Amino acid sequence: WANLQWGGRFAEGPAAIMQAINASIGFDYRLWREDIAGSLAHAAMLAKQGIISEADEAAIRQGLSEIGAAIAEQKFTFDPALEDIHTNIEAWLVGHIGEAGRRLHTGRSRNDQVATDFRLWVRAAVDALDGQLRDLMRALAGRAAEHAATIMPGFTHLQTAQPVTFGHHLLAYVEMLARDRGRLADCRVRLNECPLGAAALAGTTFPIDRAMTARTLGFDRPTANSLDSVSDRDFAIEFLAALSILAMHLSRFAEEIVIWTSAPYRFVRLSDAFTTGSSIMPQKRNPDAAELARAKTGRIFGALTGLLTVMKGLPLAYAKDMQEDKEAVFDAADAAELVLAAMAGMVRDMQPDPARMRAAAGADYATATDLADYLVRELGLPFRTAHHATGRIVSAAEARGLELADLPLAAMQEIEPRITEKVFEVLTVEASVAARSAQGGTAPENVAREAARWLEALA
Ligand code: ARG
Repeated sequence: WANLQWGGRFAEGPAAIMQAINASIGFDYRLWREDIAGSLAHAAMLAKQGIISEADEAAIRQGLSEIGAAIAEQKFTFDPALEDIHTNIEAWLVGHIGEAGRRLHTGRSRNDQVATDFRLWVRAAVDALDGQLRDLMRALAGRAAEHAATIMPGFTHLQTAQPVTFGHHLLAYVEMLARDRGRLADCRVRLNECPLGAAALAGTTFPIDRAMTARTLGFDRPTANSLDSVSDRDFAIEFLAALSILAMHLSRFAEEIVIWTSAPYRFVRLSDAFTTGSSIMPQKRNPDAAELARAKTGRIFGALTGLLTVMKGLPLAYAKDMQEDKEAVFDAADAAELVLAAMAGMVRDMQPDPARMRAAAGADYATATDLADYLVRELGLPFRTAHHATGRIVSAAEARGLELADLPLAAMQEIEPRITEKVFEVLTVEASVAARSAQGGTAPENVAREAARWLEALA
C-alpha cells in the first residue's frame, strides 16, 4: 500500500469505513471535464513559467486528453480508494506517464483545484439553465400572444377578483423568469474569478502566473485572497438561492396548472404527452409533471438550507465539511433542468378552454369594480360611497340569481337613481379588460404589445 498523495507520511491504509465516509468519487466524478481543463491550464502555465519542462507539459497534455477520452467513452474505472476525481485523474496520469505526471501538482493543492473545478461547473450550469429559462419564456410569450384577448377570471385569495386575460397571466411569469435570469447572471459575474494558485490556503512559493490560468479557463481575473479562495462556497450558495427563487416561481405556476386542469375549473387541458392516467379510475387525467415540478422545489430549498448549514460554522480555511457542497448543487441543478424542460413542454402543448374561462370570468360579479368606477366617473360619487352602492347592487343581482350585466336598469336605479343605460357599457368582462389600458394593465392591446416585445427580445 502506498498512497499517491501522502504515502510518505503514512505506514498504513485507511479503515474501510474511513474510506467510505471520505470518498467523494461517487458524485464528484461529474467534475471530470472541469478537472481536466483546470489541469491543462495549470500545466501550460507551469511550463510557460519554466517551472516544469515543455516535454513534461506535452506528456501531461497527452495523458490528460487520453483520460478525457476514456472517461467520455466510459472506459475509465473510478476507484473509491483514490477518494475523489482529482486523485483518480492524477493517479491514472502518474501510472501512464510516470515522472511528468508527478510534477503536475507543483504549486497547487486539491483545495484550490476543487474550488476552481466547482466554479467552472456552476458557471456551465448557469449558462445551461439560462438557455432553458429563455426557452420557457419564449414558450410563455408565444402562448400569451395567442391569448392576448382570452378572458379569464383574475383571483385574489383564490376568489374571483377582476377579469384579466390569459395572456396577461402568462406574461406575469415571463417577468418573474426574467428576474430569475438576472439573478443567475449576477451570480455568474461574482463567481467568475479563478481560485487556482491559492494552493492549500496561503498561496505558493513558485513563480506562477495566475492571470494566465484565469484567462485560459475563461475567468475574468484571479481571486485576490488565497484564504478566501479555498474557504468560501458562497458562489454555490448564491446559485442555490437563485435556483430556490426560480423554483418557487415555477412551483406557483405548477400549482396553477394543477388547479386549472382540475374538473371544477377545466380552464386548461394538458396534452396526453404531459398527462398520466390512473390504474383504477379510467376517467382520470392527472397533471403529474406539474405536481412534480411543484414538489422538486423541496429538493432545491433543501439544497440551499443544507449547504448554508454546512458552511455556517466553519473556521477558515478549508475543512472536509466542504466536500458536502457538491451533491446538493448537482441535485438542485438537475432538478431545475428537469422542471424547466417539463414546464416548457406543458406550456407549448396545453390547450386553454376560452369558453370556460370566459364563463367563469363573467360569474361571481368580477366587474363590480368597473361599476363602482363608473359611479365615480359618471356621477361624481366618492369612491367609498360608490363601493357601498355597488355592494348593494351586487346583493340585488345575487338575490335574483343574475350576473351584473343582466340585472335590469330599474333594479339598479332602486339603489342609485342616477344610473343610466350607459352603465351596461362597463359591466361586461370584455369592457372591463379593454378599459385597463394604462401601462402594465390587462387590456388585450397591452398584452399583445408586451407579448410581441418579449418574443422579439427572446428571438
Ligand atoms: N474531494 C475534496 C473536496 O471535494 C477535494 C479537496 C480535498 N482537500 C483536502 N484538503 N483534503 O472538498
